[in-house]
Amino acid sequence: MIKTRLTEEFGLKFPIFSAPMGPFYTTELTIAVSEAGGLGVVSHATLRGKNSVQDMKEQLFHVIEHTDKPFGVNVRTARIQTDHKIMLRKIAQWTKENPKLREQLIYVLTSAGGPRTASKILKDKAPYIHHFHVAPALWLVDKVVSSGCDGIVATGTEGGGHQSYEGISTLVLVQQVAQKYPDTPLVACGGFATPEGIAAGLAMGADAVAMGTRFIASNQSEFHPNYKALIPPATARDTLLTTGGFGPIRLLKNKYCIEHGEVVSKNDKIAQELAYSMDEYLEDLMHYEIVYTKGDVENGAIPVGQTVGLIDSMMDVDEILTTFTKGAEKILKNLCSNIT
Ligand SMILES: Cc1cc2nc3c(=O)[nH]c(=O)nc-3n(C[C@H](O)[C@H](O)[C@H](O)COP(=O)(O)O)c2cc1C
Repeated sequence: MIKTRLTEEFGLKFPIFSAPMGPFYTTELTIAVSEAGGLGVVSHATLRGKNSVQDMKEQLFHVIEHTDKPFGVNVRTARIQTDHKIMLRKIAQWTKENPKLREQLIYVLTSAGGPRTASKILKDKAPYIHHFHVAPALWLVDKVVSSGCDGIVATGTEGGGHQSYEGISTLVLVQQVAQKYPDTPLVACGGFATPEGIAAGLAMGADAVAMGTRFIASNQSEFHPNYKALIPPATARDTLLTTGGFGPIRLLKNKYCIEHGEVVSKNDKIAQELAYSMDEYLEDLMHYEIVYTKGDVENGAIPVGQTVGLIDSMMDVDEILTTFTKGAEKILKNLCSNIT
C-alpha cells in the first residue's frame, strides 16, 4: 500500500487517477478506475454545448448507479466552452439534491481556461467538493493557488491532448510545484504509463499520478476499437503538437494531424485561430466527433501522449492499478534499501 495525502483524503486504495479525455466519453472508464480503487474522472464530453448539461447529468448519474466509490468530473473553463459556468452550478445543485452523488462526487477538475470563476462558484455552492485545476506552467500554478483551489494537476508538454505554449516537461514542472507549494495537494500528469513513472511521480512529491493514454488502451475504456488499436504499435515519436480548439494539442500523426501542421510559435497559432470562421471552427470539431461516432482514425483527430511509446498491450483497468502500484512500491523499496 502506498499512502499519500490524496489516498487518505479521498479514501482511495491506489494513488492513481484517470485523466479526463473529452470530447470522448470516459464514463465506463471512470466506473472501472474508481471500482478498482483509483479515482476515475468523467470527461466534459460535449464541445459545442448542445444538450451538454443534460449529457453531463446522465453521465454522473450513470456512474453512481454502477459504483459506490468516489469519483471526479472535468469541466473545461475555456471562453469558447460556453457551458462551463452553468455546468459548474448544475453539478453543485445535483450534489445538493442527491445524497449519493454528494457522497461520491468528491473532485471537480477544471482545465483549459482560468480557475478563478470556477473556484468562486464551487466554494460558494459546493464547498465540500475538492476543486483542482490543471496547470501547465509555474505562473499558472501561482494563479491556481491564489484562486483558492484545493489542489493542482501539473501537466507537462509530453502529455496527450491540449497543452500550453510553454512547452515545460512534467519532470521539471512537478519538481517546481512540489518545491514552491509543498502544502498543496499535487497530482502529476502527462508522461505516466508505467510503474517506473508512478514511482518517479511520487518521488518528486506528487500525491497521485494521473494517466490518460494508458487508460485509453484498456479493455474497459469506451474509446473506439480503431483508436485503441493505434496505441500499442505507436512509438514515442509518433505524436505532434498541432492546432487545437483551445491552443496546441498533442495528436497522433495521421492525415488530419499532418495537414494541420506543427505549432511552432504562439503568434502563428493565434493568427491561425483568428483566421478561422465559425463554420471552419465547427467543421474542425467534426474531426473529433467522427473518431468516436465512426472510428475514422485517418480523417479524425487522435489525441495521445508521448506515452504511446511506453504502451505495448491492452490491459484491464484493475490490472493497471494493481500491478503499477505494486511495481512502484518495489522500485521505491529497492531504492530505500540501497541507501546506506
Ligand atoms: C483523448 C484525450 C482527450 C483529452 N481531453 C481533455 C479534456 O477534455 N480536458 C482536460 O483537462 N484534459 C484533456 N486531455 C489531457 C489529459 O487529461 C491528460 O492531461 C493527458 O492525457 C496526460 O497525458 P498522457 O495521455 O500521456 O497520460 C485529453 C487527453 C487525451 C489523450
